[in-house]
Amino acid sequence: MTELTIARALHVLAVVHWIGGVFMVTAVILPSVARLAEPERRIALFESIEGAFSWQAKISVTLAGATGFYMTARLDAWSRFLDPAYWWMHAMVAVWALFTFVLFVAEPLFLHQWFRRAAARDPAATFALIQRFHWALLTASLVTIGAAVLGAHGALG
Ligand code: HEM
Repeated sequence: MTELTIARALHVLAVVHWIGGVFMVTAVILPSVARLAEPERRIALFESIEGAFSWQAKISVTLAGATGFYMTARLDAWSRFLDPAYWWMHAMVAVWALFTFVLFVAEPLFLHQWFRRAAARDPAATFALIQRFHWALLTASLVTIGAAVLGAHGALG
């Protein structure tokens, strides 16, 4: 077993933990919070639950990025980023960059306060926006996973 294969296994494990968590939050936790809490209490309740996943996601996002760039280097695959046929490589980096920005920059710096302020004005609409945002991120992530497996195994041309 080469280092490349180990990196691939760690990459997939990190993605399973991270996107699996996003799936759970989107399809189970957010709808439950909407059902169980009044609009004014939803965001606080959601943040207290999601906080427990947020630090774990920081670890798996970092591991997915590190193993992804390691594999790109080992495969000497940088030129793929210049070839539109490898759009699934761009998709992986785009999903990773978006989550990295949200988790490490936007949430601690301004997203949290922004949601609080928006929720004070219109709690139901703000919560609905959070739900839509999660569905959009989840959909993009799942399309990327499917395309990356197909692409890595030569099925995308
Ligand atoms: C910095 C970000 C990332 C980089 C540089 C990266 C790079 C790579 C590379 C080089 C491969 C191997 C391709 C090959 O064997 O030809 C790969 C495989 C894969 N990546 Fe990523 N990746 C990144 C993020 C992600 C993300 C965010 C996801 C999921 C949303 C993802 C899902 C996968 C999957 C499912 C495979 C296929 C594993 C297999 O079937 O062998 N990657 N990635």
